[in-house]
Amino acid sequence: MNGSNRPRVLWASRFGFVLAAAGSAIGLGNIWKFPYITGQHGGGAFVLVYLACIALVGVPILMAELLIGRQGRRDAVGCFAVLERPGSPWMIVGWVGVAASFILLSFYAVVAGWSFDYVVMAASGALRGRSPVEIEGLFGVLVSSPGRVIFWQGVFVVATVAIVLGGVRDGIERCSRILMPALFILLLVLFGRGLMSSGGVPALRFMFQADFSALTPQALLDAVGHAFFTLSLGAGTMITYASYLDPEADLGGLALRIALLDTLMALLAALTIFSVAFTAGIEPGSGPGLVFQTLPILLLELPFGSVLALLFFLLLAFAALSSSISMLEVTVAYLVDEKSWPRWRAAGLVGIAAFLVGVPSALSFNLWQDFKPFFGRTFFEACDLLVSSYLLPLGGLLVAIYIGWVWPRRHSLAELGAGRQQQRWVHSWQLLLRYVAPAAVIIVLLNQMGVFR
Ligand code: PFF
Repeated sequence: MNGSNRPRVLWASRFGFVLAAAGSAIGLGNIWKFPYITGQHGGGAFVLVYLACIALVGVPILMAELLIGRQGRRDAVGCFAVLERPGSPWMIVGWVGVAASFILLSFYAVVAGWSFDYVVMAASGALRGRSPVEIEGLFGVLVSSPGRVIFWQGVFVVATVAIVLGGVRDGIERCSRILMPALFILLLVLFGRGLMSSGGVPALRFMFQADFSALTPQALLDAVGHAFFTLSLGAGTMITYASYLDPEADLGGLALRIALLDTLMALLAALTIFSVAFTAGIEPGSGPGLVFQTLPILLLELPFGSVLALLFFLLLAFAALSSSISMLEVTVAYLVDEKSWPRWRAAGLVGIAAFLVGVPSALSFNLWQDFKPFFGRTFFEACDLLVSSYLLPLGGLLVAIYIGWVWPRRHSLAELGAGRQQQRWVHSWQLLLRYVAPAAVIIVLLNQMGVFR
């Protein structure tokens, strides 16, 4: 018997689905990456371009992925066997998703593991009473220690597996119901504290005053690329999560809610980090080290600094965990639905495999830091490039082409609402999906391949 013949467990509620899908979307991408790329691209104008990318490229593809999952009601590969036929070439979209989410999990766990280590450092008081130079140095000490990095990477993978083992409703949904509100409250506390500090107003100005002269072509490309990453598109996660939705759910409304929550969290995180940075007179464009190296120094200088630092790293760890469970679920759903594996075996073995594939990424910061066989890149950098710059945009592009051009339009209309008002929305959505989204993604991919250089 094929696993797909078993009754499918559905989300207990649509709100639970929104929390889980927003949990997938909100992650290191929002709290670590968005602030530093916004800083590097000069703030306001980049934020506007990013918002436009989310609305014009991200949301339409997100809706298309939800549509595929809800219609197919199988894993990301199996959905295309249902919508087309078994063996259809479109199943490649699902394969891209499985590959992307698996590789992503392997190296995401490394960075997420650092946040676990920082939680322990903050909780044990190891950050207290140290000079800024010492605190900055702690990051180097951590990443240059292979045993410590691999230990926390392992702990993170075990936590991810433990949640996914519980299943969609009792594992992922139940956990998201705790993690997401906790995340929101922690971020609001830090945001409030940041705004009240002297850097609050400069941070608001930096984020919302657009200076278009600072905008470069690279900024536009980064904005499109990040829209994919932050909304978890192209990795099969949204298809898989939507396959557990009830048939009546309003997909447009759900997609909007997920995108709004994700955007809100990214803006709050960036404002918080910039207000702390401005308070201490640090450049917002100082790069990827912003969160792990600069932020703890600054937080510790504030009243209740060590509590704030603990809250911040807890926030980062929660956000990463609610994203990593969605990555694992893509391959687990594939093995359960297509190969009839029991969930425990799928989650356990995929977890172990992702951990092992992630070990070279963990070593890329220490023992193997000079081993750069991939066009001068370490293993970690090569995995990141492959997933973030190629597989996710490719998966998203194929989804846009499939729903925009291949899937009959009458099906979309029937699915998304046939009222006159809704028809107009569906029409605009299809225009974006057919022309705007593919054009944007193709330009990004060509640029990655060096065509414009
Ligand atoms: N959206 C996540 C973040 O912003 O950190 C990253 C991500 C999760 C990408 C799941 C892709 C995915 F399938």
